[in-house]
Amino acid sequence: QDDVQKNIVWHAHTVSREDRESKLGQRGVVVWFTGLSGCGKSTIANELDRLLIDRGATCTLLDGDNVRHGLCAPPSVLQEEHGEEFAGRFGLGFGPIDREENIRRIGAVTELFASAGVIVLAAFVSPYQRDRDRVRKTIESSGRAGDFLEVFVDTPLEICKQRDPKGLYQKAIAGEIKNFTGISDPYDAPPSPEIHLKWRKGQTPHDQATEIIREMEKRGVLG
Ligand code: PPS
Repeated sequence: QDDVQKNIVWHAHTVSREDRESKLGQRGVVVWFTGLSGCGKSTIANELDRLLIDRGATCTLLDGDNVRHGLCAPPSVLQEEHGEEFAGRFGLGFGPIDREENIRRIGAVTELFASAGVIVLAAFVSPYQRDRDRVRKTIESSGRAGDFLEVFVDTPLEICKQRDPKGLYQKAIAGEIKNFTGISDPYDAPPSPEIHLKWRKGQTPHDQATEIIREMEKRGVLG
């Protein structure tokens, strides 16, 4: 392992992040949605993506369920093509270390996009504050302070349970899914998110996405 570390050297490139950003006419930032399953992260992020694209921004959306089909696929998906050992080492489930690695990989990907000048919308349960703070550090140390906006989609557990769009809460309560966030696994509510979307009856994803745009403008990360 030491040899690997000694033999890998960071290569400085001549095209800077600022060069890329000025071509796109925007700032590469990460808007990180966190919240319980069913809280509305994906729906709001999707709405925000549409609003940003419509106003000419270059953005992309990374979403928990989708990323877990590829970059962070579970062992069962990797097994057939790569074999048992590979699937066991690199496939991800929902245990604490798996979630940590899930968020680490996604954090690295969001950093690549942001340093290419892209506005990245990332919607993941990301239940552990330590993991979210690590992503913040990754983004801010490669870019600038303020390039990471944590959006807490604060929908009460009771509402998420009622919605239960995929029937997962029902299964988790019945003990059929282990380590389910909010039921049998913890969720660390962010103590100081940049944007706190508190659930209010009748509020639409469009309202919430518009609130994020206003906050991005206020913070000077959106022209
Ligand atoms: S994490 O915690 O950030 O690593 O999770 P993430 O990659 O965002 O994946 C969350 C989606 O996976 C489904 N799912 C679970 N969520 C939480 N806990 C457990 N045990 C679990 N098992 C499956 C669920 O559909 C999540 O999607 P969303 O969109 O959040 O409902």
